Amino acid sequence: MKKKEFQEIYKKIDDLMSEALKDSSHPYRTFSLATVDEKMPSLRTVVLRDFSLNKQYFDCHSDLRSPKIKELNKNRKFSALFYSSEKKIQLRFNGTVEIFHQNSITKERWDKVNPSSKRCYMGPFNPSDSLEEYHPNIPDNVQFKNPSDKDSELGYNNFVIIRCNFNEIDFLRLKYSGHTRCKFTFEKEDVNASWVAP
Ligand SMILES: Cc1cc2nc3c(=O)[nH]c(=O)nc-3n(C[C@H](O)[C@H](O)[C@H](O)COP(=O)(O)O)c2cc1C
Repeated sequence: MKKKEFQEIYKKIDDLMSEALKDSSHPYRTFSLATVDEKMPSLRTVVLRDFSLNKQYFDCHSDLRSPKIKELNKNRKFSALFYSSEKKIQLRFNGTVEIFHQNSITKERWDKVNPSSKRCYMGPFNPSDSLEEYHPNIPDNVQFKNPSDKDSELGYNNFVIIRCNFNEIDFLRLKYSGHTRCKFTFEKEDVNASWVAP
Protein backbone atom coordinates (compact mmCIF):
# COMPACT_ATOMS: atom_id res chain seq x y z
CA MET A 1 0.00 0.00 0.00
CA LYS A 2 2.00 2.97 -1.22
CA LYS A 3 -0.33 5.75 -2.32
CA LYS A 4 -0.62 8.50 0.27
CA GLU A 5 -4.42 8.67 -0.20
CA PHE A 6 -4.78 5.00 0.74
CA GLN A 7 -2.61 5.45 3.81
CA GLU A 8 -4.75 8.39 4.93
CA ILE A 9 -7.97 6.44 4.48
CA TYR A 10 -6.48 3.45 6.30
CA LYS A 11 -5.57 5.69 9.23
CA LYS A 12 -9.07 7.21 9.16
CA ILE A 13 -10.58 3.73 9.53
CA ASP A 14 -8.26 3.01 12.46
CA ASP A 15 -9.13 6.33 14.13
CA LEU A 16 -12.90 5.98 13.72
CA MET A 17 -13.03 2.41 15.00
CA SER A 18 -10.72 3.21 17.92
CA GLU A 19 -12.83 6.26 18.86
CA ALA A 20 -15.94 4.08 18.86
CA LEU A 21 -14.36 1.77 21.42
CA LYS A 22 -13.90 4.66 23.82
CA ASP A 23 -17.12 6.58 23.15
CA SER A 24 -20.42 4.76 23.69
CA SER A 25 -22.33 7.39 21.67
CA HIS A 26 -20.09 7.05 18.61
CA PRO A 27 -22.05 5.95 15.50
CA TYR A 28 -19.72 2.97 15.02
CA ARG A 29 -20.28 1.75 18.58
CA THR A 30 -23.08 -0.44 17.25
CA PHE A 31 -23.01 -2.17 13.89
CA SER A 32 -24.98 -4.65 11.83
CA LEU A 33 -23.54 -8.14 11.84
CA ALA A 34 -24.67 -10.42 9.02
CA THR A 35 -24.40 -14.19 9.08
CA VAL A 36 -25.79 -16.85 6.76
CA ASP A 37 -28.72 -18.95 7.98
CA GLU A 38 -28.75 -21.92 5.57
CA LYS A 39 -28.97 -19.83 2.39
CA MET A 40 -30.70 -16.79 3.91
CA PRO A 41 -28.85 -13.71 5.16
CA SER A 42 -29.51 -12.93 8.81
CA LEU A 43 -28.78 -9.52 10.38
CA ARG A 44 -28.75 -8.00 13.84
CA THR A 45 -27.35 -5.00 15.73
CA VAL A 46 -24.43 -5.69 18.09
CA VAL A 47 -22.01 -3.58 20.15
CA LEU A 48 -18.34 -3.12 19.19
CA ARG A 49 -16.18 -4.43 22.07
CA ASP A 50 -12.63 -4.60 20.76
CA PHE A 51 -10.77 -3.72 17.57
CA SER A 52 -7.29 -4.10 16.10
CA LEU A 53 -6.49 -3.03 12.57
CA ASN A 54 -2.98 -4.52 12.83
CA LYS A 55 -4.34 -7.87 13.89
CA GLN A 56 -7.41 -7.49 11.63
CA TYR A 57 -10.18 -8.28 14.06
CA PHE A 58 -13.01 -6.75 16.03
CA ASP A 59 -15.19 -8.34 18.71
CA CYS A 60 -18.73 -8.35 19.93
CA HIS A 61 -20.24 -10.27 22.84
CA SER A 62 -23.15 -12.62 22.68
CA ASP A 63 -25.07 -15.49 24.24
CA LEU A 64 -23.94 -18.99 23.33
CA ARG A 65 -27.57 -20.08 23.02
CA SER A 66 -28.54 -17.49 20.39
CA PRO A 67 -29.36 -18.45 16.78
CA LYS A 68 -26.43 -16.42 15.41
CA ILE A 69 -23.98 -18.72 17.21
CA LYS A 70 -25.64 -21.80 15.71
CA GLU A 71 -25.47 -20.13 12.29
CA LEU A 72 -21.82 -19.17 12.74
CA ASN A 73 -20.90 -22.66 13.90
CA LYS A 74 -22.26 -23.97 10.58
CA ASN A 75 -20.87 -21.17 8.43
CA ARG A 76 -18.13 -18.96 9.87
CA LYS A 77 -18.45 -16.24 7.23
CA PHE A 78 -19.67 -12.80 8.35
CA SER A 79 -20.22 -9.36 6.91
CA ALA A 80 -20.35 -6.25 9.14
CA LEU A 81 -21.69 -2.79 8.36
CA PHE A 82 -20.83 0.52 10.06
CA TYR A 83 -22.17 3.94 9.02
CA SER A 84 -21.68 7.45 10.33
CA SER A 85 -24.20 9.96 8.94
CA GLU A 86 -22.11 12.75 10.47
CA LYS A 87 -18.90 11.69 8.69
CA LYS A 88 -20.81 10.16 5.78
CA ILE A 89 -18.51 7.18 5.91
CA GLN A 90 -19.64 3.59 5.45
CA LEU A 91 -17.35 0.67 6.31
CA ARG A 92 -18.06 -2.91 5.31
CA PHE A 93 -15.93 -5.75 6.64
CA ASN A 94 -15.94 -9.36 5.43
CA GLY A 95 -14.23 -12.39 6.88
CA THR A 96 -14.67 -15.36 9.18
CA VAL A 97 -15.36 -15.55 12.91
CA GLU A 98 -13.93 -17.41 15.86
CA ILE A 99 -16.22 -18.06 18.82
CA PHE A 100 -14.53 -17.88 22.22
CA HIS A 101 -16.25 -19.61 25.14
CA GLN A 102 -14.85 -20.24 28.60
CA ASN A 103 -11.22 -19.55 27.76
CA SER A 104 -8.66 -17.09 29.14
CA ILE A 105 -9.89 -14.30 26.82
CA THR A 106 -13.54 -14.64 27.87
CA LYS A 107 -12.52 -14.86 31.53
CA GLU A 108 -10.58 -11.61 31.38
CA ARG A 109 -13.34 -9.88 29.39
CA TRP A 110 -16.15 -11.16 31.67
CA ASP A 111 -14.44 -9.57 34.66
CA LYS A 112 -14.80 -6.20 32.89
CA VAL A 113 -18.48 -6.61 31.88
CA ASN A 114 -20.54 -4.40 34.16
CA PRO A 115 -22.83 -6.29 36.55
CA SER A 116 -26.06 -4.96 35.04
CA SER A 117 -25.01 -6.21 31.59
CA LYS A 118 -24.11 -9.60 33.03
CA ARG A 119 -27.84 -10.10 33.59
CA CYS A 120 -28.32 -10.26 29.78
CA TYR A 121 -26.54 -13.61 29.73
CA MET A 122 -28.52 -15.07 32.62
CA GLY A 123 -31.89 -15.39 30.87
CA PRO A 124 -33.87 -18.55 31.59
CA PHE A 125 -34.86 -18.75 27.91
CA ASN A 126 -32.65 -19.16 24.87
CA PRO A 127 -32.42 -15.77 23.11
CA SER A 128 -34.87 -15.57 20.18
CA ASP A 129 -37.06 -18.43 21.51
CA SER A 130 -40.85 -17.98 21.16
CA LEU A 131 -42.58 -17.13 24.45
CA GLU A 132 -46.10 -18.04 25.58
CA GLU A 133 -46.29 -14.70 27.38
CA TYR A 134 -44.10 -11.62 27.91
CA HIS A 135 -40.86 -12.23 29.79
CA PRO A 136 -37.80 -9.92 29.94
CA ASN A 137 -35.50 -12.98 29.95
CA ILE A 138 -33.77 -11.83 33.12
CA PRO A 139 -34.01 -14.02 36.26
CA ASP A 140 -36.63 -12.67 38.73
CA ASN A 141 -34.09 -12.24 41.56
CA VAL A 142 -31.98 -9.77 39.53
CA GLN A 143 -34.67 -7.92 37.57
CA PHE A 144 -34.32 -4.84 39.79
CA LYS A 145 -30.82 -5.29 41.16
CA ASN A 146 -27.37 -6.26 39.96
CA PRO A 147 -26.34 -9.91 40.36
CA SER A 148 -23.74 -10.97 42.92
CA ASP A 149 -20.50 -12.46 41.54
CA LYS A 150 -21.81 -15.89 42.51
CA ASP A 151 -25.18 -15.36 40.74
CA SER A 152 -23.54 -14.03 37.60
CA GLU A 153 -21.51 -17.24 37.13
CA LEU A 154 -24.69 -18.51 35.46
CA GLY A 155 -24.22 -15.77 32.83
CA TYR A 156 -20.57 -16.60 32.28
CA ASN A 157 -21.59 -20.09 31.13
CA ASN A 158 -23.53 -18.47 28.26
CA PHE A 159 -21.09 -15.66 27.50
CA VAL A 160 -19.21 -15.79 24.20
CA ILE A 161 -16.95 -13.43 22.31
CA ILE A 162 -17.51 -13.37 18.57
CA ARG A 163 -14.15 -12.45 17.09
CA CYS A 164 -14.61 -11.16 13.54
CA ASN A 165 -11.34 -11.73 11.68
CA PHE A 166 -11.64 -9.61 8.56
CA ASN A 167 -9.81 -10.05 5.27
CA GLU A 168 -11.48 -7.21 3.40
CA ILE A 169 -12.62 -3.64 4.17
CA ASP A 170 -14.78 -1.68 1.75
CA PHE A 171 -14.56 2.09 2.47
CA LEU A 172 -17.09 4.59 1.08
CA ARG A 173 -17.14 8.33 1.82
CA LEU A 174 -19.99 10.37 0.35
CA LYS A 175 -19.25 13.85 -0.99
CA TYR A 176 -21.14 16.17 -3.37
CA SER A 177 -18.08 16.70 -5.59
CA GLY A 178 -17.53 12.96 -5.89
CA HIS A 179 -17.70 9.98 -3.57
CA THR A 180 -14.53 8.09 -2.57
CA ARG A 181 -14.54 4.32 -2.51
CA CYS A 182 -11.70 1.85 -2.08
CA LYS A 183 -11.05 -1.67 -0.92
CA PHE A 184 -8.37 -3.02 1.39
CA THR A 185 -7.51 -6.70 1.30
CA PHE A 186 -5.07 -8.55 3.54
CA GLU A 187 -2.63 -11.25 2.58
CA LYS A 188 -0.25 -12.39 5.29
CA GLU A 189 1.72 -9.25 6.23
CA ASP A 190 0.59 -7.28 3.16
CA VAL A 191 -2.25 -4.78 2.97
CA ASN A 192 -3.41 -4.22 -0.62
CA ALA A 193 -5.50 -1.20 -1.57
CA SER A 194 -7.42 -0.48 -4.76
CA TRP A 195 -9.98 2.07 -5.95
CA VAL A 196 -13.57 0.93 -6.50
CA ALA A 197 -16.30 2.75 -8.43
CA PRO A 198 -18.53 4.45 -5.84
C1 LIG B 1 -28.51 -1.30 20.19
C2 LIG B 1 -28.49 -2.81 20.26
C3 LIG B 1 -27.33 -3.45 20.64
C4 LIG B 1 -27.29 -4.85 20.70
N1 LIG B 1 -26.11 -5.46 21.05
C5 LIG B 1 -26.03 -6.81 21.05
C6 LIG B 1 -24.78 -7.45 21.30
O1 LIG B 1 -23.73 -6.83 21.51
N2 LIG B 1 -24.77 -8.80 21.28
C7 LIG B 1 -25.89 -9.56 21.01
O2 LIG B 1 -25.81 -10.78 21.00
N3 LIG B 1 -27.08 -8.97 20.76
C8 LIG B 1 -27.18 -7.61 20.75
N4 LIG B 1 -28.38 -7.00 20.48
C9 LIG B 1 -29.56 -7.84 20.21
C10 LIG B 1 -29.47 -8.39 18.78
O3 LIG B 1 -29.68 -7.34 17.84
C11 LIG B 1 -30.43 -9.54 18.52
O4 LIG B 1 -31.76 -9.11 18.72
C12 LIG B 1 -30.15 -10.74 19.43
O5 LIG B 1 -28.76 -10.91 19.65
C13 LIG B 1 -30.70 -12.03 18.83
O6 LIG B 1 -30.07 -12.24 17.58
P1 LIG B 1 -30.08 -13.63 16.81
O7 LIG B 1 -31.47 -14.20 16.93
O8 LIG B 1 -29.73 -13.28 15.41
O9 LIG B 1 -29.05 -14.51 17.44
C14 LIG B 1 -28.44 -5.61 20.40
C15 LIG B 1 -29.60 -4.95 19.98
C16 LIG B 1 -29.62 -3.58 19.93
C17 LIG B 1 -30.90 -2.92 19.48
